[in-house]
Amino acid sequence: MTGLNARAQEILRRNDRGGYTVPTHGLYPYQWNWDSAFVALGFAEFDRDRAWREIETLISAQWEDGMIPHIVFHQEDPGYFPGPSVWATGKTPPTSGITQPPVLASIVRSLWETEGADPACPRMAALYAACLRSHRWFHQYRDPLGNGLVMVTHNWETGRDNSSEWDDALARVDTSGVGTYQRRDTGHVDAAMRPTQQEYDRYVAILQFGRNTGWNHREIADKGPFRVLDVGMSMELLRANRDLLVMAQALGDQPTIAELEARIALSYQGMDWLWNDEVGAYCSRDVTTGESSGLVTNASFLAFYADVGSPAQGARLIEALARIRTSARYLLPSLEAGSRDYDHKRYWRGPIWLVVSYMVAQGLVEQGHLDWAEQIRTDSAALIETSGFYESFSPETGQGSGGPDFSWTAAMWLAWCGKGRAA
Ligand code: DGY
Repeated sequence: MTGLNARAQEILRRNDRGGYTVPTHGLYPYQWNWDSAFVALGFAEFDRDRAWREIETLISAQWEDGMIPHIVFHQEDPGYFPGPSVWATGKTPPTSGITQPPVLASIVRSLWETEGADPACPRMAALYAACLRSHRWFHQYRDPLGNGLVMVTHNWETGRDNSSEWDDALARVDTSGVGTYQRRDTGHVDAAMRPTQQEYDRYVAILQFGRNTGWNHREIADKGPFRVLDVGMSMELLRANRDLLVMAQALGDQPTIAELEARIALSYQGMDWLWNDEVGAYCSRDVTTGESSGLVTNASFLAFYADVGSPAQGARLIEALARIRTSARYLLPSLEAGSRDYDHKRYWRGPIWLVVSYMVAQGLVEQGHLDWAEQIRTDSAALIETSGFYESFSPETGQGSGGPDFSWTAAMWLAWCGKGRAA
């Protein structure tokens, strides 16, 4: 085994807390929803049982209404804010009150298929049922326009926490009642790599709104202070519904097959609402104002992963990628350089996140853009080879930002960009 392969496995083992993995020691001491999905792909390379367990542990905290929470607080840890008492969801185990990108079904399909796609696989069947309940929750609570897209009610749900895409909607959030609290993230990593204090106040204000409703997701969706159609989650859910459909077909679940087919058709049509012809890319849209963000982010390119868009739209996205290539030493930045508030070190305002790069590259392969997929893959590997297993990386210098020894970065090395590298 090569050095980096061994190191990546060691990181996953060290961040393993028994059935679940923390994203990184210190900064994120609990189980995060989409982190666990990608981490399972990493474990799958050397411990299949542990890969399934990662997702099964997450699912054990699924809410009765189907929502899979974004954080599961398996144990107390004073080093994180906002912890379980701030969310106050009253669940056992304690959880946050919001969700995260719906990528689980796609990862479950991948685990199942690499083991031979046996329709009688009980672990697949159980996770299929859990993912279906979660997708129905999205369809029921997060599609206010009935167009098959995903509305988020907290920017933390998107996983792209401080993307400039949320700035206008966040600027309307009233923070006058937030009160005092102590951030913990900036005690773990350089504050220049994290959201600003003003942004954090807004995040906390949105959380408090949800808590004050008793986590009533109907009320939050109708009246919440932050209501945005996220291009990333819309693409991911469409992809995940297609992957779920493959499992439904294998299981012969006829009523669900029809339900998912209708849903998928609706989402394909709805995606046009996110297309911004001026910038030639898919962008998020504010539900309250109807405004498009007009920003090209790494999530814009998830259109390939979701198999969305006409050939002409695909060509414009490739043009955007080529333009980004001229300013970014490494692909794929989370925000195009030169965009409002671009910052190559600050979280989702520029840095590269390998899990999004992985999904985009997978989509590019499927759509026949093999050279672009390979460029993203080799750049991603080079970042780890140069800087280590960081949370994210500067597209300009390749330096790591945020937490070190990061679980999903290790997983992406093992399952994707490190494959075949002489490390
Ligand atoms: C954080 O605490 O920064 C997390 O991203 C929230 O999910």
